[in-house]
This record gives sequence, structure tokens and C-alpha cells, in this order.
Amino acid sequence: MSHTTIPAIGLGTFRLQGQIVIDSVRNGLAAGYRHIDTAQIYGNEAEVGQAMADSGVPRGELFVTTKVWIDSLEAGKLIPSLKESLRKLRLQQLDLALIHWPSPGDAVPVAEYMGALAEAKEQGLARQIGVSNFTVAHLRQAVDAVGAAQIATQQIEIHPFLQNRKALEYARSQGIHLTAYMPLAYGKVMQEPLIVDIARRHNATPAQVALAWSLQQGFAVIPSSTSPANLKSNLAARGLVLTAEDMAAIATLDRNERIANPDGIAPQWD
Ligand SMILES: NC(=O)c1ccc[n+]([C@@H]2O[C@H](COP(=O)([O-])OP(=O)(O)OC[C@H]3O[C@@H](n4cnc5c(N)ncnc54)[C@H](OP(=O)(O)O)[C@@H]3O)[C@@H](O)[C@H]2O)c1
Repeated sequence: MSHTTIPAIGLGTFRLQGQIVIDSVRNGLAAGYRHIDTAQIYGNEAEVGQAMADSGVPRGELFVTTKVWIDSLEAGKLIPSLKESLRKLRLQQLDLALIHWPSPGDAVPVAEYMGALAEAKEQGLARQIGVSNFTVAHLRQAVDAVGAAQIATQQIEIHPFLQNRKALEYARSQGIHLTAYMPLAYGKVMQEPLIVDIARRHNATPAQVALAWSLQQGFAVIPSSTSPANLKSNLAARGLVLTAEDMAAIATLDRNERIANPDGIAPQWD
């Protein structure tokens, strides 16, 4: 794996709007999160920016990611869209700017938007750049366009029910770091008896077991929560060490169960 400066646990903000996202980010920062994951399409960059500004946490301690939506992938639109994100987030520079989804139907070529994203980095709009929801074929094209060393992470859905091994193998072969999104399978891991059983044996929560399972494979994780107690306990997953037997048992839960699969946007998955 390549060296990365992406903090291992981040705070997701998908679906969270208005005061709910402000409270979640404020409580997350108070609990010790320093990595915040948003996106242009979430419609909450301004609220995330407000919560960060109000928190008093120094900018240098924060790690902020946003993602470029599919309507801004053309070379002439990508950089202006990131400038707009920076304005809403009240930042001079992003820590990480990602392509949210490959262009549907490859209407915009990978080389075009990866080139524009690399140019955004060159201009100082983002410290690091990366991709999200890329198939192996898309990631290959991105590597061809800008080089694997430029791709700080690929953010994809990974949890015990969708272990995404093909994507993982290719990323590893290129030394590209992975970020696991929906690491709790949007709450479904809490109902899985095997995970509940492992959690009991470690005196941990099922959410902590799912997060530790990702962290031990070297992924960053970005769980979301609106509950201060869950925010705190999810962050404490850093201290949980699963045994090789636990890891092997969770490996058997893979069932290709994909949650984020939007019609007309999702690519032909591997
Ligand atoms: N790149 C992409 O295309 C993409 C797609 C999807 C998501 N993401 C990113 O990944 C982040 C995480 O995904 P997600 O928010 O969809 O799902 P998730 O983090 O897997 O699950 C969040 C759900 O789990 C619950 N939860 C959290 N901690 C818990 C705990 N300790 N015990 C019990 N329940 C708990 C939350 O409820 P409470 O609020 O009640 O705690 C919420 O309903 C997103 O917010 C977003 O930033 C990226």
C-alpha cells in the first residue's frame, strides 16, 4: 500500500441535512473526529463548513473531502465546481477531492476528468485527489491518465456483506489505498449474528467489529451517525484488535450485497 495521510476514521455525512448535519459534525469534532467526508451532491457542504468554522478546531487539524458530481466532470466545469465547494465549505484548500462516480456511460472520458482533477491539485485547490465507485477498468484508465501515485484513495462500498475483492486486488496491485464507505452496511451489520457474537467476545459493539475488520485490512472508514454515543463508540473502534479467526469468520459473510447502486449512474460492476 502507498503511504497516505488520510486519517483512518472519518465522519460520513451522506443524507444528513440542515441542523442534523451541523449537529453530527459538531458532535463528531467534539468526540475527536478530524476527517469529514462530504460531496457536492449531498447538498450539505455549507452546513459542514459552518459546523467546522463554529467548532474552533484549527484548520490544520482537519481533513476534509468532497466529491465532484457527475454534472461537473467536463474539463471546463470541474475546477469551477471545486471552487464553489471551497466557498461553501469556507476553505482555501480541500485535503482530498474525489471523482464521485465515473461519468455515466463514459460520456466524459476518464482521461478528461482525471486531467482536470490533477490540474485542480496543481492549482492548489486540493492537497490530494482520488476516485470513487470506479470499476477496475475505470481505475486502470485513471492510472493511465495520471499515474497511480497521484490517486490518494479509491472510495468504494466495502462491508462484511460486500467485500469487493476484485477491486481490492487491483488497487493493491497498484499500491492504491482504499476507503470503505457504508462500512456498517447502513446499519445492517448490527443484525448479523456472527458479528454480534464476535462483538460480545471482545466486549465491543457490532459496529466496532465491522469497522475494525476494515481498518485491519488497511482501509480508511467513514461511518456516519446522528447519535453522539454512536459517534464516540465508532471512533473507539481504533482500539479493537480482531483475531485471525475473527477475520476469517467475517470473510465468510461476503454475499455481494451492494447497497449503493443508483440507476442510470452506477457503472457495470466488476
Ligand atoms: N462515494 C460514495 O458514492 C458514497 C456512497 C455512500 C456513502 N458514502 C459515504 O460513506 C458514509 C457512510 O455511509 P452511510 O452513512 O450510508 O452508512 P453507514 O455509515 O454504513 O451506516 C450509517 C447508519 O448506521 C447507524 N449507526 C452508526 N453507528 C452506529 C452504531 N454504533 N450502532 C448502531 N447504529 C449505528 C446510523 O444510525 P444513527 O444515526 O442512529 O447512529 C446510520 O443509520 C456516508 O455518510 C458518506 O459520507 C459515500
